[in-house]
Amino acid sequence: MIAIANDHSALELKKEIKSLLDEMGLEYKDFGTYEPVSCHYPIYAARAARAVASGECEFGILLCGTGLGVALAANKIKGIRCVTCSETVSAGLARQHNNANMLAMGARVIGPELAKAIARTFLTTEFDSGGRHSIRVGMIEALERGESIE
Ligand code: RB5
Repeated sequence: MIAIANDHSALELKKEIKSLLDEMGLEYKDFGTYEPVSCHYPIYAARAARAVASGECEFGILLCGTGLGVALAANKIKGIRCVTCSETVSAGLARQHNNANMLAMGARVIGPELAKAIARTFLTTEFDSGGRHSIRVGMIEALERGESIE
């Protein structure tokens, strides 16, 4: 299950991402917003992030004007590693190296075809687990718990 959430600036992009998820045969849960009315993006980002953090959803995709605000909000939820991407290389490496579990994109920054390519890369790339990347992600988790990592 993929969590998806957006603010008012990304309603059209959400439709495109949903069509990609349909094409990929992936189920999704839409946490809003649903109307083209100015809204507060942290509310929707947090709803989707909590669903990912709890395990209800495996991954999440967040959309706003820039992909920045939603990522900042999502990363306040324990267990979330959300990255903003505007190209596919970072999207793949965010999975391979950082085990990112949420992807954020900006509807005012990239077009729908690029956004779909980024989402596809993110959702189909595995984490390179068991080596140095696992150690580093473990350090990020330790920071989240307020522990020293030096
Ligand atoms: C909304 O105007 C805009 O601030 C929002 O979509 C996003 O870009 C924030 O980071």
